[in-house]
Amino acid sequence: MQIADRLKQIRLRTELQLDSLISTSDSIEPALQLAMRYGLLNGGKRIRPALTYLACEFSGGSPEQADHAATAIECIHSYSLIHDDLPAMDNDDLRRGKPTCHIAFDEATAILAGDALLTLAFELLSRPDSRCQPAQQLQMLHCLSKASGERGMVLGQAFDLAHVDQPLTLEQLQAMHSHKTGALIVAALELGALAAGNTDPLRLEHLRLFGQKMGLAFQIKDDLLDIESDTQTLGKPQGSDQLQNKPTYPALLGLEGARERLKQLHLESITLLEPYGESAQALIDLADYIVNRNH
Ligand code: IPE
Ligand code: IPE
Ligand code: MG
Ligand code: MG
Ligand code: MG
Repeated sequence: MQIADRLKQIRLRTELQLDSLISTSDSIEPALQLAMRYGLLNGGKRIRPALTYLACEFSGGSPEQADHAATAIECIHSYSLIHDDLPAMDNDDLRRGKPTCHIAFDEATAILAGDALLTLAFELLSRPDSRCQPAQQLQMLHCLSKASGERGMVLGQAFDLAHVDQPLTLEQLQAMHSHKTGALIVAALELGALAAGNTDPLRLEHLRLFGQKMGLAFQIKDDLLDIESDTQTLGKPQGSDQLQNKPTYPALLGLEGARERLKQLHLESITLLEPYGESAQALIDLADYIVNRNH
């Protein structure tokens, strides 16, 4: 199956799962759940769930084994976007082609919806009806907590905000991107492998290294799209980084330099998985999609 069809299938599966997660019917404050649904079910590319499903398959597991992990990682990602768009952070008004959560609702509701999506992810991974063994669940909880928090995504976001208007070295920029975006991409892959019950340390290590390179490539592409694309295609405001003088790869290396770095990372990442032959093809195709996407 072509990667575009595969991604479509994964998007549908992910959205069905997400849709069943949050109900407003018996709530004392439905606005919270409405804002959570708004932030979750609004047309994301679902790349992190795709990484989880494909890593699970690569590790010999089934889609059913990966369902909770794939939905959990998308909850964390969606929460990070709701908070990233807040006035205190990037102050953006458009996300996935619609007004950002704090515009559609209000700031307090957006903050709380983000908080609740974050905790929902851990509720999902720790569910007693999981298809994974308790020891696997614990490993997955550990992996996702580390990647999301003060040693992962949140740290990267803090560094990003603290360095607006400041020149960074290439090393600092790479560390920032690896935390704010790379950490969750690596976790998405790792969760897929853990859900499948992968116990081969070398296979896991190769997946992690692939994820580190792809995570960096993912954010470089995001930085490039901020310059090269348009608001309608992106579904978020084009030029937002330049407007706020954000530290990005194109700002430091220029457009050509950033494109070159993206090409290098893409090549290095797929080279890591090539020895696995056909079983790694879908992940390699997903890497191609990530670096060639237009939004
Ligand atoms: C955007 O992520 C935020 C970054 C980490 C660069 P995506 O490009 O995956 O956003 P959605 O989920 O498809 O909207
Ligand atoms: C955000 O990076 C990464 C997150 C952890 C949410 P950006 O600020 O570049 O993401 P976009 O461009 O707003 O999607
Ligand atoms: Mg940001
Ligand atoms: Mg942003
Ligand atoms: Mg961006």
